[in-house]
Amino acid sequence: MNELDRKLARIAEALSGEGIVFRQNEPLARYTTMGLGGPVDLLVQPASAAQVETALALVREHHVPLRVLGAGSNLLVSDAGVRGVILHTASLNQVELLQPGTLIAGAGVHFPALVRRAAQQGLRGLEPGVGIPGSLGGVLTMNAGAYQFAIGPLVEEVEVVSPDRGHMVLRRGEFDFRYRASSFGADLIVAGATLSLQRDEPEAIKADMDAHMRFRKETQPVGVKSAGCIFKNPAGESAGRLIDSVGLKGIRVGAARISEVHANFIVHDGTASAADVLGLIATVQEQVFSKTSVQLEREVMTWQ
Ligand code: EPU
Repeated sequence: MNELDRKLARIAEALSGEGIVFRQNEPLARYTTMGLGGPVDLLVQPASAAQVETALALVREHHVPLRVLGAGSNLLVSDAGVRGVILHTASLNQVELLQPGTLIAGAGVHFPALVRRAAQQGLRGLEPGVGIPGSLGGVLTMNAGAYQFAIGPLVEEVEVVSPDRGHMVLRRGEFDFRYRASSFGADLIVAGATLSLQRDEPEAIKADMDAHMRFRKETQPVGVKSAGCIFKNPAGESAGRLIDSVGLKGIRVGAARISEVHANFIVHDGTASAADVLGLIATVQEQVFSKTSVQLEREVMTWQ
């Protein structure tokens, strides 16, 4: 047993003592929409902000690598997996509706489910985001968006846990959102948020939500293994349009291929490896650069 293994064993023992759920040597493929990735030493699944704080204190005390995982929808994990601790937010899944128009939800709530729940309750504002396959915490951290939808204007408060400063509630003005980035991350972990929505008829909201989902299905590969858009859009351009314009739709490395529906998506039939996907990312970057002089930057997170 090396030093890291000894530290992880001590963390596991302490987590057991605290009654915090965790899994050891857990394969990550089932936690990512790409369906890829080797194991992590400790996958910790806190069920409250207080448990997040306890888990973070242990990570800090023992100085082991820490990562945060939501729905794994914008993530590529290497075939070898990762060392250390992953804090998985799935059990921070409570949703509370406060009248009028205020919704409080945990970071682990699946965003499309939250959008549907809001629609049923007659709360408008989230419906253009119904096809974003992340967790609420991931949507906030990555500032995920789609079709003019951005979460930022709807956020009143965010409950966070900082490894250094502990548990805090930040109010509007104390956090900000940029293109596919925000104030949140591994040093300011989202535990939950309060969203401010408009009241409307559930049927009207549902009709808009369904129209957004239909449009997404026409323009993006839905229902296949992918990690959303792979590259950030260069200023004033769509990475998908650019990759398409140089003729790369359908190209493959191993079993990973550029989607025929939208060229900024890498898809596979369940048989690709993470190495295939990384190889295809590098190939696309090289070919786009050699033909257009544009250096595409990854949007998808990689853990290796
Ligand atoms: N286009 C092509 N070929 C393609 C893909 C797109 O010609 O293969 C053209 C489209 O026809 C359209 C233009 O490029 O005229 C823009 O395409 P789209 O509307 O799909 O938008 P995008 O800029 O490619 C961005 C986000 C998506 C988001 C959509 C819709 C990024 C990197 N991508 O894509 O976000 O869903 O707008 O709002 O910001 C993601 O972040 O994972 C993601 C999928």
